[in-house]
Amino acid sequence: MKKQAISSTRRQVLRAGGATLGVGALAQFSVLDAFAQKATVTRNPLRIPPVVSPVISNDFPAGLSLTCAPATVDLGGSRLSNVLAYNGTFPGPTILAKSGDRATIALHNGLNEHTITHWHGMHVDSANDGGPLISIIPGQTYNYSFPIIQRACLNWYHPHPHHLTGKQVNLGLAGAFILRDDEEDALNLPSGRYEVPLIIRDASVDKNGNLIYNPTASGFTGKFPLVNGTRDPKLTVDKGDYRLRVLNGSNARVFRIALSNGAPFTVIGNDGGLLEAPATVSQIELGMGERLDLLVNFSGLTAGASVMLRCLDARWDLLQFVGTGVTGVAYSLPNRPLSTIERLVGPTVPTRTFSFDGMSRINGQTYDMNRFDFQVNHGVTERWRFTTGGNAPHPVHVHGASFQVVSRTGGRGVVFPWERAWKDTVLLNDQEVVDVLIRFDAYRGDYVIHCHQLEHEDHGMMSNFRVV
Ligand code: C2O
Ligand code: CU
Ligand code: CU
Repeated sequence: MKKQAISSTRRQVLRAGGATLGVGALAQFSVLDAFAQKATVTRNPLRIPPVVSPVISNDFPAGLSLTCAPATVDLGGSRLSNVLAYNGTFPGPTILAKSGDRATIALHNGLNEHTITHWHGMHVDSANDGGPLISIIPGQTYNYSFPIIQRACLNWYHPHPHHLTGKQVNLGLAGAFILRDDEEDALNLPSGRYEVPLIIRDASVDKNGNLIYNPTASGFTGKFPLVNGTRDPKLTVDKGDYRLRVLNGSNARVFRIALSNGAPFTVIGNDGGLLEAPATVSQIELGMGERLDLLVNFSGLTAGASVMLRCLDARWDLLQFVGTGVTGVAYSLPNRPLSTIERLVGPTVPTRTFSFDGMSRINGQTYDMNRFDFQVNHGVTERWRFTTGGNAPHPVHVHGASFQVVSRTGGRGVVFPWERAWKDTVLLNDQEVVDVLIRFDAYRGDYVIHCHQLEHEDHGMMSNFRVV
């Protein structure tokens, strides 16, 4: 398990040789790496969280037990830092399950304040959603049990107690929750150590190197990036294709990711799983809570040469890829759609508008656990319109269903290639109006819509609704 980035229960057959269709080849790294002058930074091996299963089986008779509690971890450089962690690891273990499985998870609260864990992106009933209407006190346990009823994708998990989400996530409580299904398995995408989860966020530390949560009125802005809880990380890569599963796990920072040599990413999926067709882009703006499924080709990276994953907005080096010179796997995308996406049509009901205003309000109101702001009919497609009076970015996130982004007017003015297919979080910037189509066809029950800028959320930019 140590050597494997994300080991699948099923061995996947990788095609050796062959052309790399649609995956841009990176060439001449050492020459083009604009960040060669930073070679003096000591780089730490990228941490890969352990992979665990939430499924009761012969191998895992108890399902998954998750404890959130204070822990000390090495952020890189062998100095221990105080953080909050799930099962002592930062980020938390990568939970891996398959469509059709039943996840059984016991959450133990080892913190000195209340908490609850939400499975961001998961289609579950209210009792298993881990939203702010439920929370447990220190020492208590919450038992989740839910079937996986959705397609393969990268979801994630994090605390969601009202007023404390920003702090608990920032101090270390977050992890990846990867779902597989037969459709995705049939693509034989790069797997094992060629599939790498990348949880990217910012952070700040005190003089002793402990993580500190010191938000300003407009949100938490960390002093440096962490990828999988590692400072100045590096990952050694073979000459071949890699599948990067990227999550922006920041409280309040949008990342604009790019490779230092300008080579493209092939986007094959996002929050809700595979796109219909891959898209080749050289930079991607990723809001808090959003995910990406990327293929990157390192076949041009010779032994010892490197290329940097960067954030163009912060001008940060996020992750250095260093070539091993060893031949890896060459992956070819099939010459057919990756997936078939049902297009939501309609709607026949009036558009619902949500205005994300100031730093704490939706449609003029701050969150009240006891107030339900609207009801949605189960199985009916609706058009939801997100607008803002300023103070963006507001990554709008909905619990209980995925949606399809149909338009963005004003501001950036387009729906980006990585926003196609199914999403559960969409970035709303100043001046923008974003329309999505959404249909709740899983469960009836209580859910929330909120801004995923976690300080906005904690200050009340969240609303309860009921699917009836
Ligand atoms: Cu990732 Cu309601 O949250
Ligand atoms: Cu969520
Ligand atoms: Cu916001």
